[in-house]
Amino acid sequence: MKNYLRDDLIKLKPYKVIEKNIRHKMDANESPWDMPKLIREILAQELANGISLNRYPDSNAFYLREAIGDYVQMSPSQIIVGSGSDELIQMIATAFVDKGDYVIYPTPSFGMYKISTIIAGGNPIEIPLSKEYEYDIDDFISAIHRYSPKLLFLCSPNNPTGNLLDLSQVRELIKDFPGIVAIDEAYGEFTRDTSLRLVKEFPNLLVLRTFSKAFGLAGLRIGYCVTSPELAEQLCKVKAPYNINSFSQRAGILTLENIDLVKDRINQIINQRKFLYQALKEIPNIKVYPSEGNFLLIRVPDGEGIWSKLLDRGILVRNFAKHPYLDNCLRVTVADETTNLKFINAMTEILGQEEK
Ligand SMILES: Cc1ncc(COP(=O)(O)O)c(C=O)c1O
Repeated sequence: MKNYLRDDLIKLKPYKVIEKNIRHKMDANESPWDMPKLIREILAQELANGISLNRYPDSNAFYLREAIGDYVQMSPSQIIVGSGSDELIQMIATAFVDKGDYVIYPTPSFGMYKISTIIAGGNPIEIPLSKEYEYDIDDFISAIHRYSPKLLFLCSPNNPTGNLLDLSQVRELIKDFPGIVAIDEAYGEFTRDTSLRLVKEFPNLLVLRTFSKAFGLAGLRIGYCVTSPELAEQLCKVKAPYNINSFSQRAGILTLENIDLVKDRINQIINQRKFLYQALKEIPNIKVYPSEGNFLLIRVPDGEGIWSKLLDRGILVRNFAKHPYLDNCLRVTVADETTNLKFINAMTEILGQEEK
């Protein structure tokens, strides 16, 4: 068939997901726990009583934005919600990147910055992290001087490396930058610091958050962006009218109303991250990178082989073995205690066999 695609999209590689029905899913940085029973029961009750699903949802998700505003201590006028932060990343590129504009982001990092830049017709410029996967701010500043980019995507903690961008580094980057800075904090709840408070200082800053990770609602697709009211108004021009369905809006509000249930789960994940990190460090021939997210990046002797052997044991992790900056690396999502133990036992066994 004739290729109808825009010429500049012909070489674009779409975001790939492995859809495997696997026992121990540790590949997508989801929460190991489903929605708390209390919230499910309230939602079930509301569904049974009728929640007007024949009507379009609230197009501006006002009550959800109000609840998010309370949570992050900002006004609802500073918040935009998207169908996952994926949609917000795409909206940001669509709204602010003109054809040919440069867009800078780190590598290795989350794949959607590149895809959204290309879809918007921008020129992606990838800035490698240091050898130990830290941000080198001087490299970013040099690239800003060289390319005068319109948009800078930063990811903190960075996926898949787990490192954090500290606030002084963010300030250093934004202070003289005339373009837009979007900091993706999809894993912000698992860290010790956040850029949210910089939103008041810098009207060109957008901070992206999600309900998919710490809040355990990946299936309902809710992300949000916190920014200045002026930038929020500009960004809203490219928002689809009813992008968050009624059910997700209600589930998001109920989750925030019961935030203590979520906080308990976040603490468990942080404790399990410590456990997993220590246990992996004790296995010979593995390098584990410290992480502030709900995942750990590890380097192993034979990434492809170990990934397959884990799969044979019913464990799916993310395979980065062939990534140019992540040679032989795998990323494992921190799960519940039982699953983490299974993973450690499998790794000990597999690496023990490799040694022989
Ligand atoms: C850094 C980062 N940003 C954004 C996303 C997308 O999350 P959402 O489910 O909110 O679209 C992910 C998902 O893995 C991610 O790792």
